[in-house]
Amino acid sequence: MNQIELFSPASVANVSCGFDVLGFCLGSIGDIMRVSKTKTTGVTIGKVTGQNLPMDPLKNVASVAGLALLKEIHSEFGFQIDINKNINPGSGIGSSAASAAGAVFGINELLGSPYTRNELIRFAMEGEALASGAAHADNLAPVLLGGFTLVRSNHSLDAIKLPNPSELIATIIHPKIELKTLHSRAILKTTIPLNKATEQWGNLGAFISALYTNDYELLSRSIEDKVIEPYRAVLIPKFEETRQSALDSGALGSGISGSGPSIYALSKGRETAEKVGAAMGAVYKKINLEYQLHISEINTEGIKVLRRE
Ligand code: HSE
Repeated sequence: MNQIELFSPASVANVSCGFDVLGFCLGSIGDIMRVSKTKTTGVTIGKVTGQNLPMDPLKNVASVAGLALLKEIHSEFGFQIDINKNINPGSGIGSSAASAAGAVFGINELLGSPYTRNELIRFAMEGEALASGAAHADNLAPVLLGGFTLVRSNHSLDAIKLPNPSELIATIIHPKIELKTLHSRAILKTTIPLNKATEQWGNLGAFISALYTNDYELLSRSIEDKVIEPYRAVLIPKFEETRQSALDSGALGSGISGSGPSIYALSKGRETAEKVGAAMGAVYKKINLEYQLHISEINTEGIKVLRRE
């Protein structure tokens, strides 16, 4: 095999109750990436369409992740990465994670798959660290493993794939502003009051339990963020109103997607998810703010190979 083409999906991190540890994978939006073998060693960025991304391999998250992998394993050949970037950087649905995960996945395949999908997460984290200033795997784990994932530890890296209640549909609204993760992390406090922490881990535990038991009511009660969202909400136009419109239209829960500005909602069934999307969109229409809307099943597969040559 000399070349591989793949679909590297968008993802929603945090899911309100699991800052930096919980996430899920989307199916309806993602990047198309092609990784090809080259005679010269190392990693280069080839053709980029859809967005302006750095071409310097030391500044592009895809090549930085790829280089992290190549530090550990000898390769007689190198790799060129072409990216058709459909996920807007700074949109809050794992743009950098899709690039980093796609790069390490493609390189690993061309090397004959020495690493499992789970083992690839730690290489991709170097790309995430470049993009956000902190190595966290809550977008990478769902992109590589599919479905919902929990990162027990970002330090020793312990990522777990979780079950997925089959009727869940995600609605994502992206108000057309760019919010860099680096900036929305910079405003966070480094300590949290004990009573807030208690509520948060109660919700996270209950959320995980709800995934295992298909308990949509419990899932709904658990989607709450007392720790991060209060600080970040101010960065997103009409956040509270948009979230409330999703809940009023029947969503099980809603909150900031990753570090924003996208807002996600989870609903039972596509009909509700579409109603939720229309209600969220109406909030932005009122203030003439452009937006993109995505309605997606939970992508249980993660990165998908489109073609091998
Ligand atoms: N957990 C991360 C954050 C996700 O909220 O900053 C965005 O990369």
